[in-house]
Amino acid sequence: MNEAPTGKQSNLRVYDRVGPLYDAVIGPVSRRARERAVGALDLAPDGTLLLVGVGSGLDLPHLPRGPRGLGVDLSDGMLRRARARKAELGMPNFELRKMDAQDLDLPDESFDAVYLPLIVTVAPDGTRVLAEAARVAKPGARLVVVDKFWPEGRPRPAPLRLASRVLGSLATHVDRRFSEMHAGAPHLEIIGDEHLALGGFFRLVTLRKPAS
Ligand SMILES: C[S@@+](CC[C@H](N)C(=O)[O-])C[C@H]1O[C@@H](n2cnc3c(N)ncnc32)[C@H](O)[C@@H]1O
Repeated sequence: MNEAPTGKQSNLRVYDRVGPLYDAVIGPVSRRARERAVGALDLAPDGTLLLVGVGSGLDLPHLPRGPRGLGVDLSDGMLRRARARKAELGMPNFELRKMDAQDLDLPDESFDAVYLPLIVTVAPDGTRVLAEAARVAKPGARLVVVDKFWPEGRPRPAPLRLASRVLGSLATHVDRRFSEMHAGAPHLEIIGDEHLALGGFFRLVTLRKPAS
């Protein structure tokens, strides 16, 4: 389950240091999923995109070059890598900023699409991350979540809960259900739910904010 957000988010200390290893391990295995997720955003050439938890920027090569974008993350180490990747790719329309996904310093209804790859199970309060993403999305916007979710209805034994707490403090939780995240923004309509890997543990969920 979610934990209360605190000023000291322990897994950020890990993310600050693991960039090169993260890219070497996660980069190759996640390429196809990222292509699918970016496709699901259905971005218009003049659209605006918010990428929540941009990390080291592994999604940047897959983003269309037309739309203006903003990527946010709280880890200096990951943002450093994202900045280097952005410079390499030459993406003048894409900005990077240090920001807490649980408390976005952005106006309401300002983005045509919001992409949340591997962030709602990493931040202490994933429910709030989705609520914040919904807040800054324009009416009619798409939100695409890619993450690992514990199956709905399957019990979560105590050892799993404990392991997830430890793993969460280091990197990511493994016991969150999508329905718990969705509770933060229940007005978002689910328009797609694809199983990506590990028997549906990894999912690509596409949501739409109602037009009015
Ligand atoms: C598993 S990595 C995913 C990175 C990237 N989205 C990807 O798909 O490769 C999780 C990222 O979330 C970032 N993060 C964790 N907590 C955050 C928070 N509260 N606000 C913003 N970013 C956060 C970490 O710094 C890290 O870059």
